[in-house]
Amino acid sequence: MPLVPMRQILDEAAKKGYGVPHFNVNNMEQAQAIMRGAEEVKSPVIMAASKGALKYSDMLFLRNIMNACIEKYPKLPIALHLDHGTSVDICQTAIHLGFSSVMMDGSLQEDGKTPRDFDSNIEITREVVNLAHPLGVTVEGELGCLGGIEDGIGSGQEKLTDPDKVKEFVEKTKVDALAVAIGTSHGAYKFKIKPDPDKNLLAMDIIRRIHELCPDLHMVMHGSSSVPQELIAQINKYGGAIPETYGVPLWAIKEGIKAGVRKVNVDTDLRLAVTATIRKYMKEHPEQFDPRKYLEPSRDAMKQIIMERYIKFGSAGHAFDYEPMTLEDMRKFYENE
Ligand code: G3H
Ligand code: 13P
Ligand code: ZN
Repeated sequence: MPLVPMRQILDEAAKKGYGVPHFNVNNMEQAQAIMRGAEEVKSPVIMAASKGALKYSDMLFLRNIMNACIEKYPKLPIALHLDHGTSVDICQTAIHLGFSSVMMDGSLQEDGKTPRDFDSNIEITREVVNLAHPLGVTVEGELGCLGGIEDGIGSGQEKLTDPDKVKEFVEKTKVDALAVAIGTSHGAYKFKIKPDPDKNLLAMDIIRRIHELCPDLHMVMHGSSSVPQELIAQINKYGGAIPETYGVPLWAIKEGIKAGVRKVNVDTDLRLAVTATIRKYMKEHPEQFDPRKYLEPSRDAMKQIIMERYIKFGSAGHAFDYEPMTLEDMRKFYENE
């Protein structure tokens, strides 16, 4: 108790109209920051590993770090999620590792770059749903392509989601959640000009239209780091060289949540927090060489960002609203659907 299916976390978020941050994890300090933050503000947790994270950690290490989170925080609902699976095999591997949710990113081919056509996206996503649902595991799909290629995931050609294709996609695949392309991109370099709240930054009309057409669908906003300017300034002050860049501001994320977004993916902001903290520490303590001395403040810096996101997206305070479901409960739910 309680590894929960991500579907339950999103269903509960939809009932009360809030969003849940998805945080990527690669190592122990990130995992601890995510859990410590969640415990402090009482939020459900979506902890995600990308293919790159699994490779970096030889899979087993990250899987066991994630399992340690479940053991150490037995009261918090936690979903373990595969981020951007681009093949049936990787989704299957994640399910075998014990993840309670997988993303089959069928918007792209297995190389994670070349766009995949609509019918083939339906086919491969449906194949993953057929493997996952009988085990109670949640599936997130993706329709449309995000811009940007910095994290090795993305075609570099933005293709916004066509709302008129969504209903067919969801009905044919039976996905639990859908990532939509509305103008965000992965990484730190999202916008060159400071976003103006009086101008349309993202294609919110797409989100609103999808919500009208499929009111029960849980939408996911990828590429939703806010790229805090103070972190960019700190990185640059202590030797970094990050050009002027802006992320997705909180007001835009809140608009999305109001219109039906239930999961908001954040990775880059945690990377920036770690880098900013370590750069500063190294500069100010040139005599130090114990990694714990700089990993500890970097973990605290991530925790601050994480708590802020739990609070601002609205999931804080909701960890104990419901009885956690098991994968077996969810399996029965799918069976009776
Ligand atoms: O969507 C991309 C995530 O930020 C994961 O990035 O593939 O570098 O682990 P990664
Ligand atoms: P960021 O790069 O904006 O943090 O997005 C992360 C993401 O979408 C992970 O799937
Ligand atoms: Zn993503």
